[in-house]
Amino acid sequence: MTDPTPATPELLHELVLLASRSPSPHNTQPWSPRVADGGIEVAIVPSRTLPAGDPTFRDVIMSLGAWIESVSIGAAEAGHAVDVEVLPALSQLESLPVRGPADADKPVFRVTLTPTSPEASASPVGSFTAFTADDVRERRVYRGALVGRPDVFSNLDSLELPPWLSVRSLDDRAMRQLSTLGIAFTASRATIANELLHWLRLDPRHPRYDLDGMTDEMLVMPRPLARIAAPFTRTARLRDPVVALAGPIARLLEGLGRDAPLPTGVPDEAGAPTHHVLVANSRAAGIDDILSVTEAMDSRIGVTEPHALEAGRVLQRLWLHAHRQGVAISPHSELIDSPAAHGALRKRLGLSRSDVALSVFSAGVAQARHVPRSPRLTDSSAQ
Ligand SMILES: Cc1cc2nc3c(=O)[nH]c(=O)nc-3n(C[C@H](O)[C@H](O)[C@H](O)COP(=O)(O)O)c2cc1C
Repeated sequence: MTDPTPATPELLHELVLLASRSPSPHNTQPWSPRVADGGIEVAIVPSRTLPAGDPTFRDVIMSLGAWIESVSIGAAEAGHAVDVEVLPALSQLESLPVRGPADADKPVFRVTLTPTSPEASASPVGSFTAFTADDVRERRVYRGALVGRPDVFSNLDSLELPPWLSVRSLDDRAMRQLSTLGIAFTASRATIANELLHWLRLDPRHPRYDLDGMTDEMLVMPRPLARIAAPFTRTARLRDPVVALAGPIARLLEGLGRDAPLPTGVPDEAGAPTHHVLVANSRAAGIDDILSVTEAMDSRIGVTEPHALEAGRVLQRLWLHAHRQGVAISPHSELIDSPAAHGALRKRLGLSRSDVALSVFSAGVAQARHVPRSPRLTDSSAQ
């Protein structure tokens, strides 16, 4: 990707393929890109959203932001700058059906490319780190043991975060306790648990094992356990009793966890993974635009959808920044999804009313020789 000519359909298709390697909740890949009129329009696939687990579309929109960032990185490498036009449908997601294919007539944003001058493409603007298409292809989440690198996000200057976004640190003890609380929340809500199980592929014989969702390998599950658990994720007759049984137990654990105070003043053990929270300040986000302050109040995410999209771009930069340093990311959205964990998290971080936690993730060096690569719908198009 080094040719600074106007964007050809071939280049646009190449960028679509590259962006398919972007992260998405449960590896749902909720984007439906269409190359048209010299640009790329992206609509959301309703059946690839998570109505139970992500009712505000926060994670869907953040993953679309990551998608844009991936396109932008590939485009820059090919000598193009990206212009993103956010379309009205992005702020009307409550009218999206819960199932079915994408509506190509209702794209949520449109990306166009303009060639940059050779000098501009040779030296990245300002101090911005020039991530590469290979970084986008190679980055991957790792959910096994991580050994922390406490300085991984100590210098974010090169990532050019907008002033309304910041990255806060969370201590290991609080993280572990709040993650347990969050997992108990997920397990205790049958609709959320069923939705998660729907996206698990614990056996290579699953028809969608190589396409989407989360495999046993990605979840670092021992193979025998995965084979035993696999039928419970696929057959309602087996799944429903397990979910029904797990509900009250998880609710009990959630109740106990909710009342347990978080320990204070416990330093992280040497080698513990580090934990990070991407926080948006809705007031600072709307500072130059009074309309977006009211829109943020309307949005159930706490910031406007276009701001959540921008935050997704930053999230991808943060995760690529870690990847560049040999550090893997393990996201923990359950800390935001569970009202109890979220409340305790806000208190722990001292967040103000206008602060919104958008993403929680752990970081560290993967303690494994092989970090599994997640499947994509586009894998058969061979990258
Ligand atoms: C907004 C967002 C939220 C996510 N939340 C979680 C999470 O709570 N737990 C988790 O294990 N992975 C989470 N992920 C990671 C995805 O599961 C992962 O990106 C996907 O499975 C594809 O794998 P890859 O990123 O290694 O390519 C999240 C990803 C995004 C973009």
